[in-house]
Order: sequence, then structure tokens, then C-alpha cells
Amino acid sequence: MTKTQESWGSRVGLVLAMAGNAVGLGNFLRFPVQAIQNGGGSFMIPYLVCFLLMGIPLLYVEWAMGRFGGQKGDHSTPFIFNSFDKRKFWKYLGVFGIFTNIAVAAYYCYLESWALNYAWSSITGAFSGMSADQVSSHFNTYVGLESSGPIICWIICLLLNTWILSKGLSGGIEIVAKVLMPLLILFGIFLAIMGITLKGGSQGAIFDGTVGLNFLWTPDFSTIWNPKVWLAAAGQIFFTLSLGMGSIHCYASYMKKDEDIALNAMSAGWMNEFVEVVLGGAIIIPIAVGYLGIEKVVELTQSGGLGLGFRVLPFLFEQWGTVLAMICGLFWFGLLFFAGITSSLAMGTPFMGFLKDEFNWKRETSAWFFGLVVFVLGLPCVFFFAEGVFDEYDYWAGTVSLVVFALAEIILFAWFFGMDKGFEEINRGADMKIPPVFKFIIKYVTTIFLLFVFVGSLINPEGGDWAGSWNSLSSGAGWPLSDGSILGQLMNQGVHRQIDSATDQAVADGLRTKLTYINGSRFLLLGLYLAICAMVYVAYQKRLKLSKP
Ligand code: ALA
Repeated sequence: MTKTQESWGSRVGLVLAMAGNAVGLGNFLRFPVQAIQNGGGSFMIPYLVCFLLMGIPLLYVEWAMGRFGGQKGDHSTPFIFNSFDKRKFWKYLGVFGIFTNIAVAAYYCYLESWALNYAWSSITGAFSGMSADQVSSHFNTYVGLESSGPIICWIICLLLNTWILSKGLSGGIEIVAKVLMPLLILFGIFLAIMGITLKGGSQGAIFDGTVGLNFLWTPDFSTIWNPKVWLAAAGQIFFTLSLGMGSIHCYASYMKKDEDIALNAMSAGWMNEFVEVVLGGAIIIPIAVGYLGIEKVVELTQSGGLGLGFRVLPFLFEQWGTVLAMICGLFWFGLLFFAGITSSLAMGTPFMGFLKDEFNWKRETSAWFFGLVVFVLGLPCVFFFAEGVFDEYDYWAGTVSLVVFALAEIILFAWFFGMDKGFEEINRGADMKIPPVFKFIIKYVTTIFLLFVFVGSLINPEGGDWAGSWNSLSSGAGWPLSDGSILGQLMNQGVHRQIDSATDQAVADGLRTKLTYINGSRFLLLGLYLAICAMVYVAYQKRLKLSKP
């Protein structure tokens, strides 16, 4: 193990890089879709409660764990976990903090490349004169790889990410964050103003922009106790804050010994919430609702989360005339690209930190190796997008792993390391101390909350009907698992159901082929996890030889 020389150049740089890690495609694409799918106003209360009781406490924990590990020369979670408790299994749970980043980067960089391509198409006026259907089917042609453009864009994105990573923290990531974050916020403010001030009856819009905003912001208590909405809100908080990934630990591990955690973590976390709730909530929703109405927008989000951003917005921008369409298209897809790249850069650092710490690899070599692994893992995602590989990566790496890892880290921090020591660690160097009530929140409320989220996701019943499912269970009719629950997914329940009900042999065969791709991608992910475990094992043996576990 080597002591790294890397560190952040300035406090502003650190906060912007952390905010850039959090602010991503999730803020602008995932958040509006989750909000619409879960009833708008009825989503926002669980969302804000999850942010306060789960998001903020986990931010403190991850920053503190990272800074603590960094002082011992550890920059990736297998050995950061090891610095908190020496029991061997923690290291292998810590593997999630490398695995998730690589697997998410494998599909995330592809998504990022769509934004780059669409930004270019907006500048060149490619959507001009297209009908709504043509814009929508342009997306199918794109992901169907009917030209080489998508692949070229994807490779450019991978090379760009890798090159910036090879320049290091202060020479690469920090500079990018300092330039792109303010630009992204400016673009976002411009588009949010366009969304909010949209007037019904003008430029083809049916409703004012405020109709969509009211849908999001009018509290609706009718579904407040529906666990399905809470699970969706918790999932969004994880994804948007990049919690349970290991990237925050890694960034924080390059902080100085007594650098403030309390204020820095809050600055980055609240900046993310501003961008997500205020800006992310004021672009797609008011514009799409203004042109299409709530019912149509709800329908569109049921058939795929990315739909609105890529299939619909370019057409809606066209209604504002050629010049505004070009500017808005460039700003929208440019903003998505900036948001994406500042997040995917963070995904590279844990693996690089691990390779540098444990195998003495140079920064440049580690960056290019990360790029290579992401490229190989991304290939099936790009070429078999329609067969569900992309969704599979997103589900297991971008959703389930986050909750499992967060549960592990909070148990390690609050219950094994101990909350008294943990709280001291969080507050060390803080300009403003965190209220002591957080000791209780972190240890009990957040832990129990996470357990609920995990168990809820594991056995989420069909239609989110928990009461009906308990009745079904107690009457001996079994637990009706939803297709989207972890167990339901594991058993491929949804696809099997579709195969059973298919009347056309060709359709059934197509679904069976899809199943092969789905299972294949799971094996790939499992293989990645095990390969990292093996590397951790070798690294640990090396440490034992040097007698420094
Ligand atoms: N936090 C990142 C996002 O929201 C991963 O996209």
C-alpha cells in the first residue's frame, strides 16, 4: 500500500466536485419521471422526508468514513471499511463501493453519450421540421444503432472521461467541476424560466407551465401511506445523492485531516436538491404537461423513464421557433451531458484509488484500465439495449446495490464502530457542530428506515397492495410478489408471465431470447463483483505480508 500524494486543491473545488458527483442525469431525467409516476404532489412529501431522515444522515456518514479512511491511506471502500472494523467480511461488503461505480458507469456513459449526440443534433437543426412521431422514432433508430453515430459518441465519452480522470483530482475533476457546474446551473435556470413562463394558447401549448408545477407541488395525502411511493422516493434519494455507491467515500478520502465535513456535506447535498427539485422539477414537467396534458405525460412515463427527455422535448422545443429550439436543445442536452460527466468521473475514482493504493499503479494507468473495463462491460449494454441489458445493469447496480451497501455502511459505522466515536469523527473540524439529535437519527431512524426500504424492495407485493397481500398470505394463498420486487426480478417473474400469456410463438421465442440476455448480464455483473473480491483478497494478502492489515 502506498500513501497517495493526491488531494483537493481548494474547498470550493471539493464542494463543486461532490455536488457534480451528485447532480447528474438522475436530477433531470429520473426525478421528474419518478415524481410523475408516483402522483406528483403525493411523491414530494415522502421524497423530502427521505432526504431529511436518510439522505442527510448518510451524507454525514459517507463523508466521515471517507475522510477517516483517507487518513490511513485508504481510498476505496473495501479498505475504508477495514479501517473501521477488522472482521474480514467487511472488506468484501466494501467491494460494492467499487463494483457499483464500474457497473453504473458502464450504462451511464452510454446515456451521457446520447445527450452529447442530441446536443449536436440540436445545433445542426436535425429535429427541425420533424413531426412528434418522427422525433420519437428518431430515438428508436438511435438506440437501435442504425448508424455508427451512437457508437462514435459513446467512445468519445469514454475517452473523455478516461482522459480527465488521468489528469487527477485537482488537475482534472476539480477543473471540470468548476467550469461545468456553474454552466449547468445557468442552462437550468434559463430552461426553468422557459418552463415556468410557458403560456397556454401560445406556441401550440394547451396549458400554462404552472399547471405542471401545481401537479408537482400541490400536496396530496391520499397515497401518503403507500409503501410503493416511499420506496420510489427512497430510491430517488439514493440515486440523486450518489449514496450507497462508494464515490462519496472516495472523494472524501482525499480531504485534509480536519477539513469541515458538516458544512461541506450540506453545501453539496443542498446544492444537489436545489438543482433537482427547483430546476429539475421546472423543466420537463411544466413543458410536457403544458403541451401534452397530465394524462398523456403520465402515460408516456409508464412506458419508459427516458421517454420524455429524448423522445418528446426536442419536438416541444421546435414549437418555440428555430432559434429558440436550437438554444433550448443545446442547453437541455448540454446540461444533461455536463451533469452526466461530472457524475461519471466520480465513478472512476474508487477503482483507481484501489489500484493505486494496493498495486502501486500510476494514476494514468489506473484511469485507462478503468476506461477499458467500462468499455468491455458497456459493450453488451450498447449492442443489446433492446434486449434489456441496460435496464438490468440499472436495476442491480444502480438500484439494489445502493441500498445493500448503505445498509452495510450504516451498521458498520453506527453499530460496530460506535455512534459516540462516529459522531466525534463527523464533528471533527466542523465550523458549525451538527445537532446531537443526529446521533439518534443516524443510529436508529436511518438504520430502521433503510431496513424497511430493503425488506420492502425485496418483497414488494403486486400493485403495492400490502394490506391485500397480508390477507392473501394469512388465508394461505401466498404472497403475491410484484414483478419489480427484488425476488420477483430474480425469478424473472414478469418475463415468464409474458411468455406464458403470449399467443404468438414468435413473441414467446423473442421473450425467451431476452431472458438469455437478462441472465447473461447478471452473470457478467456477478463476475465483476467476484473479480473485485479476488483483487481485494490478493491485496489483503499483500498487506498481511507487509504485516499492515
Ligand atoms: N447522482 C447521479 C445522478 O443523479 C448518479 O445521476
